[in-house]
Amino acid sequence: MCGIVGGTSNRNILPILIEGLRRLEYRGYDSAGVAYKTNGKISLVKNAGRVDDLAAKLNLKTNKSNIGIAHTRWATHGVPSEKNAHPHNSKNNIYVVHNGIIENHSALKEMLKKEGFKFSSQTDTEVIAHLIQLYTEKGKDLDSAVISTIAKLKGAYALGVLDKNNPDTLIGVRQQSPLVIGEGFEEKFIASDIMALSNITNKFKFMDDGQIAILEKDQITVTSSSGVAARLKTQEVDSNAYTNDLKGYSHFMEKEIFEQSDVIKDSLEGRLTKNESQEGIFGVGFEKEMKNISNIQIIACGTSFHAGRIFEFWSHKFLGINCRVDYGSEYQYQEPIKTDKTLLITISQSGETADTLSSLKFAKKSGDPVTLTICNVANSSLCRESDYALLTKAGPEIGVASTKAFVTQLACLNLLLLTLMRVHNKLPAARKKITAALKDLPKLINKTLKMTGEYKQVAKLLFKRNSALFLGRGLYFPIAREGALKLKEISYIHAEAYPGGELKHGPLALIDKNMPVIALAPDNEHLAKITSNIEEVAARKGKVITIGPLGRTKIDKNGGHIKIPKTLDLLNPIVSVVPLQLIAYYTAVFKGTDVDKPRNLAKSVTVE
Ligand code: AGP
Repeated sequence: MCGIVGGTSNRNILPILIEGLRRLEYRGYDSAGVAYKTNGKISLVKNAGRVDDLAAKLNLKTNKSNIGIAHTRWATHGVPSEKNAHPHNSKNNIYVVHNGIIENHSALKEMLKKEGFKFSSQTDTEVIAHLIQLYTEKGKDLDSAVISTIAKLKGAYALGVLDKNNPDTLIGVRQQSPLVIGEGFEEKFIASDIMALSNITNKFKFMDDGQIAILEKDQITVTSSSGVAARLKTQEVDSNAYTNDLKGYSHFMEKEIFEQSDVIKDSLEGRLTKNESQEGIFGVGFEKEMKNISNIQIIACGTSFHAGRIFEFWSHKFLGINCRVDYGSEYQYQEPIKTDKTLLITISQSGETADTLSSLKFAKKSGDPVTLTICNVANSSLCRESDYALLTKAGPEIGVASTKAFVTQLACLNLLLLTLMRVHNKLPAARKKITAALKDLPKLINKTLKMTGEYKQVAKLLFKRNSALFLGRGLYFPIAREGALKLKEISYIHAEAYPGGELKHGPLALIDKNMPVIALAPDNEHLAKITSNIEEVAARKGKVITIGPLGRTKIDKNGGHIKIPKTLDLLNPIVSVVPLQLIAYYTAVFKGTDVDKPRNLAKSVTVE
């Protein structure tokens, strides 16, 4: 989860590299560095801290260069420090930036030490620079030295490489970590994602795993790791979609929460008829293949996992098809159960989550599922690895805490539900109702977004607490989990979610006047029992805040109730999550934590 940007041009590209790092900081932000050619040698500037600190150290007014590589780090091996910041170099000849993990770095380090190489960092990346240097010392040219090096590496890596002795050549390598090539007039770039370069070009080539790109100002040569030439077509992307403009909000997370009504509309546009999902929206052949499926397996992580759990309820209730949801980091270590006719769904905002990706590859190796990804990034690894893809169209999500991606995942999963119901001839009347309610959803989200006063009141009750509990039953338990995840990841307050009925089996011991409890109280078969759970808490002086479509909104220092708009029960979780997102957001703001770049986290977790 680091960010790489590099380039070669006729113009000064240092400001471009720094702006590119700024746009990639959501991928990692504990340290940063840049290596650039100037007066025939390569200069190296690194900094423990944010990109702005690096920019100040680099002094863009005096320093200029037309070729360089830059990196913003999320530490995997070695503490965040200037010494461990990238680029790493070997003998002041070879400079490398890396996103990923080299799993066999210890063995390589021992071998290189025997070859006389000295290590100055605790990182796995440094072995790459020394390996390339070793092969150049053995007489290989730069391209061949890189090819020989990657043949020794095990793990995931996107690389940028500079060589003092080949000062006009920039090399990019992609293996399981994303890397794109940006094309300008007599200038070429590499970056971890489009966002880094969307302000200078809309022309991109998307590298595949195992490919090496040799970039010069006026040409790009791409080969496989065995040296076979590869041709990558240039794609034009809508660069406007990749803006990182706050548009007056205080944080990207706030902006993205308030965009949810609009992005749900974008997700549904052109995908619904009057009473149904539009045919063909999942790709040619998908619906035909769906006629025979009898199992659904979902693989996802974090917030996306919670979206999968919601679909599990929908599948059992409306399709009668067994659905199982597993974490990406767990699925690949289970004994694969041979099930025929399985639809395997991955859900991911980034499309680059290594845990999800590796479990998908495992599933494809151990069975023959039809694979579909519900994803927010076109051309991402998951999109390219899946038979079918449905884009959530949430637009770039910069805040590390996922919000608009989640609600658009649920909107798209609802389109999948409608499609499978139609293909399996299930409940036409229900399909009509669901379609109408889906179309109505953006309006309800807007209404829910307006109650910021109440959410701030709840946040005031929370922000000085050390812990909080979230309760939900049935379809609302995954939403309770999502609320707990939002709170903990941006405010650092410990938060746990439980099915309401589980409270009395242990967690009730946690309840006292210092333990706030947020409970989802839906207007459905669970209402009576969740009410009992709430009373169990109140009887022990716990502060309870309930959220649901019944009752009247009233919040005071002892807790209270937030009334949200009512819709079909299967869609109410999408409305219910909005208060939880904003309660977490305001709590973090009151606490003063870094809402968009919480400590220890990164937006796209591209290592296992
Ligand atoms: C959610 O707020 C977190 N940032 C994190 O759990 C995230 O959902 C998870 O890493 C999965 O990411 P993905 O959706 O890009 O696969």
